[in-house]
Amino acid sequence: MTGGREARAAVADATGALTRDPVAADPVEPRDPSDLTGLVAVVTGGASGIGLATARLLARRGARVAVLDLAPALAAGLPAPLVGFPADVRDDAAVRAAVEAVVARFGRLDVLVNNAGIGAQGTVADNDDAEWARVLDLNVVGMVRVTRHALPHLRRSPAAAIVNTCSIAATAGLPQRALYSASKGAVLSLTLAMAADHVADGIRVNCVNPGTVDTPWVDRLLASAADPVAERAALEARQPLGRLVSPEEVAAAVVHLASPAAGSTTGTALAVDGGMQGLRVRPRAR
Ligand SMILES: NC(=O)c1ccc[n+]([C@@H]2O[C@H](COP(=O)([O-])OP(=O)(O)OC[C@H]3O[C@@H](n4cnc5c(N)ncnc54)[C@H](O)[C@@H]3O)[C@@H](O)[C@H]2O)c1
Repeated sequence: MTGGREARAAVADATGALTRDPVAADPVEPRDPSDLTGLVAVVTGGASGIGLATARLLARRGARVAVLDLAPALAAGLPAPLVGFPADVRDDAAVRAAVEAVVARFGRLDVLVNNAGIGAQGTVADNDDAEWARVLDLNVVGMVRVTRHALPHLRRSPAAAIVNTCSIAATAGLPQRALYSASKGAVLSLTLAMAADHVADGIRVNCVNPGTVDTPWVDRLLASAADPVAERAALEARQPLGRLVSPEEVAAAVVHLASPAAGSTTGTALAVDGGMQGLRVRPRAR
């Protein structure tokens, strides 16, 4: 640690990567703390769903945004001004190269959104060891890899923040989700440990816990159901708001936690789940 915001900004100045502290208070016109102008963000899994909505909102708030995703997912193209960097989060060398390419292009890194993840269905009886290793490697160790390579750059930022995409599956027992829930439970604990480890570095670490979100992922889940219409109705009814969460609603929570507006928030999990975790309401009459 170089000794607080001024020192870190000065270090960045010396490298030519940062001309002014983007969160320094202006005594005449205080900066809007939700404005991300001057900051650089990486979003993993940013080519689809929650990640794409988050990348777009970060860019709308003024950040320059790098999307780390699989090459086939990026091949379809990203909306401007998002910039794609192909990397599989299961491949440490590829992740390292992508993070270095982001910093080479944009000169710095301030915000990391660890969002790439995959689903898994079934009880403990249904997935073999190889599938457990595959999902944990991607959903948990994937976040570790990207964070590991981002840390040296985040330590130089005056506004460093990491937001991990966790899930309601970390805090509520859901049927047929043993492996997925174990992976997201690990993400929740990892978030807290990372927040403790890096608070002295000036890096805040939080996570969001979405309920069921209307993304291509859920489209795929519904397509594999015996009765997709009934399955969608069941998922909607499970959330007290009576509908699925939108990717934009999750993005708003992620971007809040990533922004200087949340400067005193670290080591938290923000539920964006239509009330699923906290409320016990009677079923709605349909
Ligand atoms: N959709 C939901 O209901 C829901 C609920 C809670 C949490 N989540 C979490 O949100 C995150 C995003 O989910 P989504 O619904 O937007 O899914 P999605 O399938 O729409 O998008 C996931 C993105 O991650 C990318 N990805 C997958 N494997 C990758 C890898 N190895 N390396 C790099 N990128 C990879 C995909 O290419 C895709 O662009 C996941 O972590 C998921 O667990 C989703």
